[in-house]
Amino acid sequence: MVFKWSEAYSVDNTVIDKHHRHLFDLFNKFNDALSSDNNESIVHDILLEIKDYTVYHFSYEEEAMKTSRCPDYEMHKQNHDDFIIEVDNLISNNDTHQCLEKGAKTYKLLLVWLQNHILQVDQHYKPYFKN
Ligand code: FEO
Repeated sequence: MVFKWSEAYSVDNTVIDKHHRHLFDLFNKFNDALSSDNNESIVHDILLEIKDYTVYHFSYEEEAMKTSRCPDYEMHKQNHDDFIIEVDNLISNNDTHQCLEKGAKTYKLLLVWLQNHILQVDQHYKPYFKN
């Protein structure tokens, strides 16, 4: 399952759309590693990369929401924090191993979360910092 960007994901903000596209590129990289490399250390490294970039993106988005006084900030931030906990759990050594065993299922869980978040939750702030 390879992610393909479409305008439906756009939040009409150039920087944030760029972040989201990059996140999906990382997820595609993760999927490739799960299906071809089958190497625990590569999968672990990509999960770290996903976590680092996600933390960076969430922080940027949360700051923009605060500056623009978007409603639902607390709920949105909680949503972000929950995702980071999920990725942190996968990064722990045992779960990286299980991640390989579960392969596509883990990838699908993360990807579906991200797609739903961008298609639903992120769309709420669209009118507040459109550019
Ligand atoms: Fe783009 Fe709320 O993450």
